[in-house]
Amino acid sequence: MLDFKLKIPFFEAKAAYHHRREFIDEAIQKVLSNGNYINGPEVSEFASNLATYLNVEQVIPCGNGTDALCLALMALDLNPGDEVMIPSFNFIAAAEAVALLGFKPVFVEVKEDSFNVDCASLEKNMTKRTKAIIVVHLFGLSSQMEQVLAIARRNNLFVIEDVAQSLGGSYNGQKLGTLGHIGCTSFFPTKNLACFGDGGAVFTNDLGLAKKIKMLANHGQQKKYDHVYIGLNSRLDTIQAAVLNVQLPWLDELIENRRKIAVYYLQNLKGIASISLPQVDDNHTYNQFCILFKDKEMRDGLKKFLAENGVDTMVYYPLPTHLQLAFAKSGYKLGDLPVSERLCDQILALPIYPGLSTENQSLIVSLITSFTNETK
Ligand SMILES: Cc1ncc(COP(=O)(O)O)c(C=O)c1O
Repeated sequence: MLDFKLKIPFFEAKAAYHHRREFIDEAIQKVLSNGNYINGPEVSEFASNLATYLNVEQVIPCGNGTDALCLALMALDLNPGDEVMIPSFNFIAAAEAVALLGFKPVFVEVKEDSFNVDCASLEKNMTKRTKAIIVVHLFGLSSQMEQVLAIARRNNLFVIEDVAQSLGGSYNGQKLGTLGHIGCTSFFPTKNLACFGDGGAVFTNDLGLAKKIKMLANHGQQKKYDHVYIGLNSRLDTIQAAVLNVQLPWLDELIENRRKIAVYYLQNLKGIASISLPQVDDNHTYNQFCILFKDKEMRDGLKKFLAENGVDTMVYYPLPTHLQLAFAKSGYKLGDLPVSERLCDQILALPIYPGLSTENQSLIVSLITSFTNETK
């Protein structure tokens, strides 16, 4: 076994602060001094900055990415029991939002080469009660939006894009999150655009939806104590908005850093027959870099080997949403979505974040090479 005494974390939350410390300290200090902790001017400034970046009519900041999905669904006037299609191979947030609001999550399959929604599965699972699709651009790669939008148009469905892992990415020259009816994102510290706590946003070109979402995020009120809808208390803290205003101008550069690391991994791991590498796409933002193994034993073996040598990795995701205990009553069983189920056994996410040094990238590659040579 190689004996590297190193520690490469899966993610380094402090790096963003250290790189722009001066500006962030100043921005936070300003909020602390002004005392506008809730809905201070930095929040609307950020909404306007992000709208300009995305080239979208309206951005409504909110508490986190899960709330963003709830707010999007709440705005659509769906009825209890209406069906919303969601890829099962995903973080649980979308399914939670659908179920919490009394709608029915219908889990669909993903494609093995992109980890994104399989359009054939959308067609297959369509019923008279299907009202919306939540498209998740997983790990930073765009879904096949032309096909998704065509299916939605034919069946009169709403499309919500979850860009929590792909903010800044684009499809046919248009920013992800602005192609469907509503886009939702998270500013959780691991995301492409991150704050120093929880944060999220909803965006749309539909001014009617935007007006409603703005109210829904603030207790459903159109003015103080005048409540038109049953809403949420979901606001982006002024301090987090101030941090995001500092970070946003760097977003493209941060994504470029991720792409450079991805290119290094792609070039240096491509000769390893037992590993499948992620799809190459110029618009991929590589929020995660996930590789696939032929089986769980080999995946778990490499994970353990890397951990013993000081390298953290993650399994995104160990169990598809349709098999989570939380959804046991939905009636899904093992074998219903075989691609999603198999991916959970085969996938491993490698460290990828701005600031991951070239030395550490090279050590990760040599550890993987040495493990796969030994287990040939
Ligand atoms: C694809 C996706 N959607 C939604 C969320 C939820 O975001 P938050 O943690 O801000 O609620 C996440 C968070 O990891 C995510 O990865």
